[in-house]
This record gives sequence, structure tokens and C-alpha cells, in this order.
Amino acid sequence: MIHSQAGVVDSSRHAPEPGRRPLPSVKMTVDHATKAYKTASGAVHALDDLSLEIGDGEFVCIVGPSGCGKSTLLWAMSGLHDLTRGSVSLDNVPVTGPRSEIGMIFQDANLLPWRNLWQNIHFPFEIKRINPKPYAGRVRELIAEVGLTGFETKMPRELSGGMQQRASIVRCLSYDPAVILMDEPFGALDAFTRDEMNLLIQKIWMETGKTIIFVTHNVSEAIFLADRVVVLTPRPGRLAHIFPINLPRPRTIEMTFTPEFIARVIEIKTTIETGRFAGAEPPAPAVAPG
Ligand SMILES: Nc1ncnc2c1ncn2[C@@H]1O[C@H](COP(=O)(O)OP(=O)(O)O)[C@@H](O)[C@H]1O
Ligand SMILES: [Mg+2]
Repeated sequence: MIHSQAGVVDSSRHAPEPGRRPLPSVKMTVDHATKAYKTASGAVHALDDLSLEIGDGEFVCIVGPSGCGKSTLLWAMSGLHDLTRGSVSLDNVPVTGPRSEIGMIFQDANLLPWRNLWQNIHFPFEIKRINPKPYAGRVRELIAEVGLTGFETKMPRELSGGMQQRASIVRCLSYDPAVILMDEPFGALDAFTRDEMNLLIQKIWMETGKTIIFVTHNVSEAIFLADRVVVLTPRPGRLAHIFPINLPRPRTIEMTFTPEFIARVIEIKTTIETGRFAGAEPPAPAVAPG
């Protein structure tokens, strides 16, 4: 169990309530977000009037065709990039620049090659000028949680891709942000390592109660992880549909092979391809007797 700076988080908060979905308070709001990049050949309209509310402790996955504005949305939510119109807020406070309550994890682990794993994990403390001492126990717990104990003095080149990404997860969680934004974090990993990482992220989320917004182009991964899957239209990204995922937790890799899971994959893939949700399948016609 990972200890939050605020104390141990009760993992039962994510226990499924049969037939009832608890309504969390809103943690982040995206309000009429529009982004047009200025380029030499004219404006690129990346996002269009997208509004979204993310609940406290919710796991939201964002999927959509390549180039539809997923990264643009995530960077705007991080406060690192601005919007052309619209706004993002965290706990009802507008996000206008980087915030220590928001952590980000990318496809590339971005470890500094000349620093060992321990030193890389401590890099944000130096940047943010935070004293790492009170966090030392937490960092050690996180390193153990992701299976990197004993590798603290290894250099990034001595670690596999999966291990590097585990280190970047520890680096992000080390200073205990309330919200974690992840942009295709496992996109460069092999399928087996990706499954392992998905199980790891699920476990961390269930133990810490973090709010996670996770961009992926892998629909199975999105369904496996999410409370809700948000589908964007082709560029400019608009809201195509939001799919609630009510599968019980903890989810297992075996669940991804069930007919129920595969039906969701097809439904969401169809929505991505057509840019709109066609609605629930009509009930199959009754077979006439005889
Ligand atoms: N800095 C930029 N300048 C100009 N165009 C950009 C920039 N960043 C992204 N784009 C364009 O905006 C669109 C959306 O990009 P992006 O948000 O990266 O999409 P996604 O993450 O869904 O693949 C794409 O057409 C991309 O080429
Ligand atoms: Mg992207």
C-alpha cells in the first residue's frame, strides 16, 4: 500500500457498488477548449469547443484517431500549453501554468542519461525546490511497489524500456500530485510489458485514489483502465461520445478476452472510425417459431 502525504488512502473507495456509481466531486474541468496552432502555412485547428468534467479520483481514458488533438488537450490540462479559447480548471481554480498538484508521464521516460535511477527520481525535487527528506520513505515505497528496489544506482542505459517507464512513474508520484496526466505512456512497450504496466497502474490508482487522465490509441487498454472512455472526433477534436465502463475491479488481463469486453472494444472502435456513437444495438429480432 502506498502512503499519500495526506495519509494512507482507503483502497475500498474504489470498490464497486453493485448497480450504483458513486458521484465524485469534480476535480478538473475543461470548458469549451479550442486550440488553433499558428503555422507558416496557416492555422491548424486541433481542438474544437471541447468540454469535459473529471471527477475526483476518477480514471478517464481519452482515445481518438491519430492527430485528433489528444496531446493538445493533455498539454492544455497540464498548464504547459495555452488554449486559443476556453479554459481548464483544477478544484475550480483556473490552470494558467504548471502546477505541483499535476504530474505528467509521457511515452518516452525522459530519464537524464548521466544520472542514475535514484538521482533521476529526485530531479523534480530540485526543479521544484522541494526538500526531498520528508518524501524519502514514500520514494522507497514507490520504488519497491514498481519492482525497482536494488536498481537505484543503475544508469538509464542499464534499464529496459519497461523499467525506465516504471522509474518515470515513481518520479511523477514521488512528490504526490493529486492529478496525473499520461500521454500514451506505454505506447512504445511490447504487448507483454504493456499488460504488466496496466496492472501496475491499476494497482497504484486503487491504492492512492489519484485522478488519472490517460491518453492512448489502444482501445483495450482504455477499457481495461478507465471509469470512462472519452472518444474524440478526427481533427479538430470534439467530443464524439463518453463510454462509462462498469466492469468490476480489480480487472484482470483474462477479462479482456471475454465477449462483454470485446463488445465494448467494437463499440468504441466503431465510434472512433465514424466519429459518432451509433447508439445501443437494437435487440435481436425474436426467431419465429417453426
Ligand atoms: N506545435 C504545433 N504546431 C502546429 N501544429 C501542431 C502542433 N502540435 C500539434 N499540431 C497539430 O495539431 C493536431 C493535433 O495534434 P496532437 O494533439 O498531437 O494529436 P494526437 O495527440 O491526437 O495525435 C495535429 O494535426 C498536429 O499536427
Ligand atoms: Mg499525441
